[in-house]
Amino acid sequence: MDTDFRFFPEQGSLNAATIDHLYYYLLAVTFVFTTLIFGAVGVFCVRYRRRPGRDVGRPVRTKISLEIAWIVIPLILALVMFFWGAGAYLPIYRAPSNALDVYVVGRQWMWKLQHAEGPSEINELHLPAGRPIRLLMTSEDVIHSFFVPAFRMKQDVLPGRYTTMSFETTRLGEYALYCAEYCGTKHSGMVGRVVVLSPSDYERWLAGGLSASSLTAKGQRLFLSLGCATCHQEAPGARGPSLLGLYGSRVFLQDGREVVADESYLRESIVDPAAKLVAGYQPLMPAFRGRVSEEELVQLVAYVRSLRRDGEGRADQ
Ligand code: CUA
Repeated sequence: MDTDFRFFPEQGSLNAATIDHLYYYLLAVTFVFTTLIFGAVGVFCVRYRRRPGRDVGRPVRTKISLEIAWIVIPLILALVMFFWGAGAYLPIYRAPSNALDVYVVGRQWMWKLQHAEGPSEINELHLPAGRPIRLLMTSEDVIHSFFVPAFRMKQDVLPGRYTTMSFETTRLGEYALYCAEYCGTKHSGMVGRVVVLSPSDYERWLAGGLSASSLTAKGQRLFLSLGCATCHQEAPGARGPSLLGLYGSRVFLQDGREVVADESYLRESIVDPAAKLVAGYQPLMPAFRGRVSEEELVQLVAYVRSLRRDGEGRADQ
């Protein structure tokens, strides 16, 4: 990071320029209307002030063209804001399928970052350049907010659920990471950095990143040690529903609802299985709330995600 003064942080993500342009537009609209309103107030104060012989104003006769103009012009300006904003928001909300997943766990007062390939980091996040990234975030205690100004990304990190944020890094470099939600005494110290490396450097970093086993391997160990496999066995008549090919599929619930098995669903079904009971199964599973940490939940979710119908997923351990 440099100490040069600048109005805007450098642009480190693909979406940053779009967001800046939208911001310039909002600033321009605000500037124009502020000037118009205060200008008109000033002019009218002088022009229509009380003068001898003009104590009472003339009744106002509205012109229909004027009415139409001040409805249509702001409407167009607001619609531009809406569609432009929605266009900028969509890629943050919806990650492409080839995105690299990184799990983020916030806690008072640090960021823990877990790569699917194994390495985990604290207050430091290494990413490859030119790749779509998806962050899957949760908190162990209070609300935090993951904020990287250079990426124009800010998203609240909430206890008890997952929020996601995706972006694509563009330039190599180091970018500041902040917590943008007041979360207690050392909130201001909950900072870190994001290091964007070239793809080859990133591979080297991953390889040097200890001999950590992959997230799915950790999840599988946990899955076995918690005894999950006793009921979730892939056999007819098993007490728990099959987990093969579950991730991303539609699940029919006892109460008639239908949900998509995303990460949030998987997490909830571990901590509170009764919340969304699968049709045709008994509420036998114990709730794991408080028995597994958020980091362990991330591992379990990653493992269940890896269980594909064709069995291919099991190979990536
Ligand atoms: Cu975490 Cu502020």
